[in-house]
Amino acid sequence: MAKKDAAYVCSECDATFYRWSGRCPNCRQWDSLQEVRAAPARERSLGRAAIATPPLSIAEIEVDPHVRVPTDIPEFDRVLGGGVLLGSTILLGGEPGIGKSTMLLQALGMMAAQGMRCLYVSCEESLGQVKMRAERLGLERSALAVSAETSLESILALVGTETPQVVVVESIQRVNAAELDSPTGSLRQVSTCATALTEACKEAGCALFLVGHVTKQGLIAGPRALEHLVDTVLYFESERFQALRILRAAKNRFGAVNEIGVFEMGPDGLQEVRNPSELFLAERDASASGSVVTATMEGSRALLVEVQALVGPGAYGTPERKASGMDYRRFSMMLSVLERQAGVELGRCDAFVNVAGGVRVFEPAADLPLVLALASSFRNRPFFSDAVAVGEVGLGGEVRAVSRIEERLKEARKLGFERAVVPAGNAGAARRLVSEVHPVRNLLEAVRCLHAPG
Ligand code: TYD
Ligand code: MG
Repeated sequence: MAKKDAAYVCSECDATFYRWSGRCPNCRQWDSLQEVRAAPARERSLGRAAIATPPLSIAEIEVDPHVRVPTDIPEFDRVLGGGVLLGSTILLGGEPGIGKSTMLLQALGMMAAQGMRCLYVSCEESLGQVKMRAERLGLERSALAVSAETSLESILALVGTETPQVVVVESIQRVNAAELDSPTGSLRQVSTCATALTEACKEAGCALFLVGHVTKQGLIAGPRALEHLVDTVLYFESERFQALRILRAAKNRFGAVNEIGVFEMGPDGLQEVRNPSELFLAERDASASGSVVTATMEGSRALLVEVQALVGPGAYGTPERKASGMDYRRFSMMLSVLERQAGVELGRCDAFVNVAGGVRVFEPAADLPLVLALASSFRNRPFFSDAVAVGEVGLGGEVRAVSRIEERLKEARKLGFERAVVPAGNAGAARRLVSEVHPVRNLLEAVRCLHAPG
């Protein structure tokens, strides 16, 4: 059998293959595979190479103290895990126009006002454009340093000479390393530049924010490819046509994942939404059928959101189904469970579900409010207007206990919900928090709540 000492590396994405092909199987670039010879096996044999740093026992390892700097924008600080950690790299992704530049300019402006050395590298917009945005945000007199460099070498030099404590590079897809002949924005450029910037900033002990654009179609050379390189990944999300912006931590080596910050885009920048539950429930019609309020966990905090369902007789053929803000497969499964285990015959109906306010709810604890909303719409019987529902629903129609019931119900009570429909397994804890508890063991018991007078 032939030895596998020849390999082919893609000049675009650095993927390695053991067979040549005309097109890279990974990034689909044509004619980019180049042969490299692997080092002969004998050089790699045990004990030949010098060891630069011998291993240490856990007790011997010294950890650099981490310095966290709050930006004074509490919603932003919480998502970061309690402020900006100096020496860490944070990737901020989101669709164009969602508010990445605005967020970072505001945060940097706040930090510069505290006397921190901040550098904003704008690779996409001119200095004039940055100034105009800064004026809108009330930062026209800020000491924040701005540069419009796009070359990696120049940015690295700036980090060396300006010795900033916080650097923003917007966007990483626009930075160019002269040593590479791949085009700006290619996966190879993006990952080379991100690696070099990350290393330089780590060494200098400054925090680095990398901005990356994400498009609806997915991205070619974008943030997802960088997720493993950085310490923290934040994504900005919104529902189209809504001023609401949700900043979510998708990864955080130094904080809780799935932590969210809620903002509203206004004429003078992003404003924090201090009580998101109130906002999410603001336009609710409490007496309508098909509407159920639930308490969902987002990172370390509970949020109240409204799950809405609309079920109608299907016209003909395949019934129409749509889920927004929820997982479609979970929704389909719940339709089947509801039909099979509670006799709610939705099979031929059109069914739509939506989480009002543009939030996305993906945890199993949202199963119960989802099935209740569907059954409520189907039977045209409203759910209690002053109750929240939480619970995971199994395939057998059993309702299972959920985690962190205390936090969920505390948030509910804060907003005046004194009644809760909960899994029987959570009933004890729930009784200590709200005045009226309806424990349910299965879907049949759950749908009975729709008959009870509100
Ligand atoms: P921006 O921060 O430039 O988005 P990104 O960097 O993610 O591409 O935000 C752009 C949008 O926000 C744009 O449509 C204008 C709007 N905007 C406001 O509504 N108010 C403001 O104060 C600012 C600065 C922008
Ligand atoms: Mg921008």
